[in-house]
Amino acid sequence: MRTRKLGRSGIEVSALGFGCWAIGGEWWNERGEPLGWGAVDDQESVRAVHAALDLGITFFDTADVYGAGHSERVLGRAIAGHRDAVVLASKWGNVFDPATRRSGATPDLRPAHVREALTATLRRLGTDRLDLYQLHINDAPLDVGAELRDACEELVAEGLIRAYGWSTDDPERARLFAEGPHCASVQVNCNVLQDAPAMLALCAELDLAAINRGPLAMGLLTGKYGEGAALAPDDIRANPPEWLTFFRDGRVAPEWQKRFDAVRSILTSEGRTPAQGALAWLWGRSPHAVPIPGICTADQARQNAGALDFGPLTDAQLREVDTLLGR
Ligand SMILES: NC(=O)c1ccc[n+]([C@@H]2O[C@H](COP(=O)([O-])OP(=O)(O)OC[C@H]3O[C@@H](n4cnc5c(N)ncnc54)[C@H](OP(=O)(O)O)[C@@H]3O)[C@@H](O)[C@H]2O)c1
Repeated sequence: MRTRKLGRSGIEVSALGFGCWAIGGEWWNERGEPLGWGAVDDQESVRAVHAALDLGITFFDTADVYGAGHSERVLGRAIAGHRDAVVLASKWGNVFDPATRRSGATPDLRPAHVREALTATLRRLGTDRLDLYQLHINDAPLDVGAELRDACEELVAEGLIRAYGWSTDDPERARLFAEGPHCASVQVNCNVLQDAPAMLALCAELDLAAINRGPLAMGLLTGKYGEGAALAPDDIRANPPEWLTFFRDGRVAPEWQKRFDAVRSILTSEGRTPAQGALAWLWGRSPHAVPIPGICTADQARQNAGALDFGPLTDAQLREVDTLLGR
């Protein structure tokens, strides 16, 4: 239960990963709207990574663009001296200016950029190789995807990366990447309120890891925002873009709160916290699932790692969740 394979790569990872978006701190899009989760305390981020390592979490997911390079730098600092004990995943495709901490409006999908971006990522992480490299552009065109997959195979041959995958919610795109022998995973949005049956079936068919982003529905499934916790004004959830529907007007959107309330008693079975129950749902849902909750503090690392002690929800609980949510 404590470890899973990163799909057909055979790379062993902890069954719980550590999402590093939030520890990147503030950064903005080209219009100045927040893309981060507000200001962060880097010392606390390092403590969170160390707490996770102490509890057996070995899998860390970041991206070059998180905090315009800051997430990779902080993670690199935190894992210095532990490189052989961790599995590092990052992403490329977005462009950004580290000086202004602004993202560009259009991605860079040239095959040549894969190597350029990787070189910068390795430097920020302080390592000479990446375990998993992921295309960060969910809806990049299929023909471009094929070129980028082949560029990744070259990097594998050179020993710069061990495996690669696409962060996409589209099974057709995931299948195209999986034609490459060293494609090991897909990164897919999936949580107890938002199942991803087609993608999970594809992962079973092709032996890909389903790395689950948003496993806590961006904090909604912790329950704290329904109980009055406030969002900072520079948090993306306080000023959500169109795709981010969990929060509205600085609060959890009522339609999502209702769904969460419907399954809360199942998530908190056996004394789990709601967040631990949300992770347990994913482990029960698929043997390929590797949730990567975003973690900002050592306390969050400890609580999320505690979910491993309870293990997955049962099949009967999963069926009950589906019934309660009308699936
Ligand atoms: N396109 C992509 O490839 C993509 C997109 C999204 C995410 N991701 C990856 O997936 C990871 C996870 O997704 P996510 O960050 O969007 O959302 P998430 O994991 O659903 O929610 C994470 C947030 O919940 C709060 N939290 C976590 N554990 C908690 C606990 N035990 N108690 C209370 N609060 C807790 C933290 O924020 P607060 O304390 O501020 O509430 C944390 O940042 C990201 O970090 C990133 O690595 C990738």
